[in-house]
Amino acid sequence: MIKVEAIVREERLEDVKEALREIDVRGITVSQVMGCGTQLGYTHVVRGSKVSMNMLPKVKFEIVVSNEDWAQRATNAIVKAARTGEPGDGKVFWYPVARAVRIRTGERDMEAITPAPSQAEGEL
Ligand SMILES: Nc1ncnc2c1ncn2[C@@H]1O[C@H](COP(=O)(O)OP(=O)(O)OP(=O)(O)O)[C@@H](O)[C@H]1O
Ligand SMILES: [Mg+2]
Repeated sequence: MIKVEAIVREERLEDVKEALREIDVRGITVSQVMGCGTQLGYTHVVRGSKVSMNMLPKVKFEIVVSNEDWAQRATNAIVKAARTGEPGDGKVFWYPVARAVRIRTGERDMEAITPAPSQAEGEL
């Protein structure tokens, strides 16, 4: 299992959400975060200006998927939906996931992150 974490521009929230929906990712956590990258939060660096950090609002997606194929598919979808080509488009990180538990059923790991049988059949 892999957690794909993506930090993107706030205004790309809906586009990224739609892109993940299209590839049938189910189970997403989204948070509002603050951060900066290599430009320390500034789009224009004025020579001689005091070096400080400017935290900009961003949106963070966290998605746990079953394997590298799914992680790559999710990453491609996110990159395509989030890219403007300007500094500040964001980053994607992958993390190994040690364990997952679906609280309702007690299912673990892979079973916990794929649709439960009772729901997959009944859900329209
Ligand atoms: N190394 C990092 N660790 C943790 N968070 C990061 C890191 N780099 C970027 N971020 C997060 O991603 C957001 C966007 O980063 P950003 O796209 O500016 O990265 P960058 O490396 O400066 O790339 P670019 O040159 O395209 O701007 C930051 O505000 C921060 O929240
Ligand atoms: Mg940057």
